[in-house]
Amino acid sequence: MEEQLKQLQDEAVMKAAAAQDLKELNDVRVAYLGKKGPVTEVLKGMGRLSAEERPKMGALVNVVREAITKAIETKQVSLESEAIQKQLAEESIDVTLPGRPVKLGGPHPLTRVTEEIEDLFIGMGYTVAEGPEVEQDYYNFEALNLPKGHPARDMQDTFYLTPELLMRTHTSPVQVRTMLKHEGKGPVKIICPGKVYRRDSDDATHSHQFNQIEGLVVGENIRMSDLKGTLDAFAKKMFGPDREIRLRPSFFPFTEPSVEVDVSCMCGGKGCSICKGTGWIEVLGAGMVHPNVLEMAGFDSTVYSGFAFGMGQERIAMLKYGVDDIRHFYTNDLRFLQQFSVHE
Ligand code: PHE
Repeated sequence: MEEQLKQLQDEAVMKAAAAQDLKELNDVRVAYLGKKGPVTEVLKGMGRLSAEERPKMGALVNVVREAITKAIETKQVSLESEAIQKQLAEESIDVTLPGRPVKLGGPHPLTRVTEEIEDLFIGMGYTVAEGPEVEQDYYNFEALNLPKGHPARDMQDTFYLTPELLMRTHTSPVQVRTMLKHEGKGPVKIICPGKVYRRDSDDATHSHQFNQIEGLVVGENIRMSDLKGTLDAFAKKMFGPDREIRLRPSFFPFTEPSVEVDVSCMCGGKGCSICKGTGWIEVLGAGMVHPNVLEMAGFDSTVYSGFAFGMGQERIAMLKYGVDDIRHFYTNDLRFLQQFSVHE
């Protein structure tokens, strides 16, 4: 029996040492020390031994059990530390590697221009008003003195969704909606930025979708000179203090009189490719709000008068930054956009 026990001990110690992982080691523990294991079997057979032999055998079994337990524990410690070492090696970070650059975005040039114009007018006491891009024919045309069949509708080729519903061709309908909210009481002083749509073929200077900012002031004693002063202040802040404006007679059904507004060119009047040798660049349309428009929006045109103007951010951005093709704004080429991502 002694022999048998010794052999068991050697066998178990060897197997414990050879275990590849914690599971195998546990199998060894169960096999040799478990309830059905050989060591327990020996203990069970002790009843058959004589009174002198029993304590000797008992002591021996304990020695064997301890030896096996110790071998298993030792192996367990070494397997566990091996696992930690392995994990550490796998998860090690090379702190000497160069970092990956983080690409910072910036506001789109059109967003920049829009915000710049907004800030400028907010500084002059205007508030920002917005409205829907899918608009009713009434607000986009009829309430702006453009009844159905009016030839001036041809000035703005329109995407119709139904005979009464269209993609707005300008942000003027927001002005109508705002005036109606005022229920005939002034003053109204707003700018309306937003996307607008026209059935134009896209080329270097046309896009079927573009951005506009329109302004509207309605009050008592609002005169053409107020319009001129406002636009002069706008031009100087937007393009530089030495820029001038000039007004040329024009036509819009919703304003009377109507003007086209030019800003003097950066060449100082010498003539260059941007101003095509004229010294002036057309930047916006404007005029005194037509009495019909005021009346339709609920204002008494004998008491109230107003001016309105409208401009396209694309055109302003093209002039300000020297961009030669409107499509650059929409194709999202990072080489183009990155030139504007200056981080203030
Ligand atoms: N709504 C006009 C357009 O888009 C611009 C404009 C606005 C002209 C206000 C005059 C007054 O063409």
